[in-house]
Amino acid sequence: MKAALCKSLDGPGAIVIEEIAEPTPAVGEVVVRVGAAALNFLDTLITRGKYQFKPELPFSPAAEIAGVVEAVGDGVNKLKIGQRVCGYIGWNGARERVAVPAKLMIPIPDGVTDAAAAGVSVTYGTAMHGLKDRGGLKTGESVAVLGASGGAGLAAVEIAKLMGARVIAVASSPEKLAICRDHGADDLLDYAATDLKTGLRELTGGKGVDVVYDCVGGEYSEAALRSIAWGGRLLVIGFAAGVIPKIPLNLYLLKNASAVGVFWGEMIMREPAQHRANMIEVLNWVAQGRLKPHVHATYPLARIGEAIDALDKRRVTGKLIVEI
Ligand SMILES: NC(=O)c1ccc[n+]([C@@H]2O[C@H](COP(=O)([O-])OP(=O)(O)OC[C@H]3O[C@@H](n4cnc5c(N)ncnc54)[C@H](OP(=O)(O)O)[C@@H]3O)[C@@H](O)[C@H]2O)c1
Repeated sequence: MKAALCKSLDGPGAIVIEEIAEPTPAVGEVVVRVGAAALNFLDTLITRGKYQFKPELPFSPAAEIAGVVEAVGDGVNKLKIGQRVCGYIGWNGARERVAVPAKLMIPIPDGVTDAAAAGVSVTYGTAMHGLKDRGGLKTGESVAVLGASGGAGLAAVEIAKLMGARVIAVASSPEKLAICRDHGADDLLDYAATDLKTGLRELTGGKGVDVVYDCVGGEYSEAALRSIAWGGRLLVIGFAAGVIPKIPLNLYLLKNASAVGVFWGEMIMREPAQHRANMIEVLNWVAQGRLKPHVHATYPLARIGEAIDALDKRRVTGKLIVEI
């Protein structure tokens, strides 16, 4: 079977397509025939050995898959051969078949395509965990999403909207902001053209934002914190700008505010029941049309390196899907 392989940690340009042995399921595993795999910003890091998880070489990129169960290992009783499933597997998604722990797979509801299901775990999962479990977002509160047109950001825009919040999408161009508007954002802020702190204050009539969903880091985290409301929460999601900011603690004190870490990839291992409940809710919302996963582009397996490079170059809105 075919697989996209990282045989060295030299980035997406070094990925090769090769034939590898078919997998067999160990105890507690299923083999999934992958229909679609989804890419995330983490693939730009993992292919260079810069992500918090460092798989052994060679490995395949793509942390999320959707497909059909083809074989079931001993001890698996909740999944059947032929069942459609999706989920987060960390890496090795970009290959024709993969053996994965059955407990990571969630059944796909009827009417949801592989392309849609493949891309929901990381982005919507993080939005549910961040905004609901960690951020305690309440109806009527305001949320500023930094990097709002990216995969994680656009999912947060949609989930915050479903939770009844007022959503301020922050992105770097009018084209990216238009996509955020299409996905439910109430207000738009171009942080390439407008000062973030001033812009957020003006949009909230001087009160500041209740929750910041920060996918970007760099200089923007402190600017957003300086415009946070009394009792606000800064949700630390990621550092797409490439710089982990160091922020003076007095800024939290002055606003009775909190910095809240959100580590979805670890939470799903520590709190599997909560993760599963979140994913079932997300997939049902997709089936009902209440969430509309935005696919920026679909690539064939052979061009996966090009796809990851597009994420690196900041050219992607929503998700990139790899058809296997
Ligand atoms: N904590 C968690 O559990 C968790 C889960 C998922 C993702 N994340 C993290 O969240 C961040 C976003 O992930 P994603 O998959 O949504 O990525 P993505 O689709 O590539 O989106 C990242 C966004 O960040 C902005 N950005 C600002 N500076 C950038 C730069 N130098 N390079 C690339 N993008 C830049 C871009 O928007 P503008 O051009 O509009 O600025 C882009 O839309 C990453 O750091 C990722 O590791 C964390």
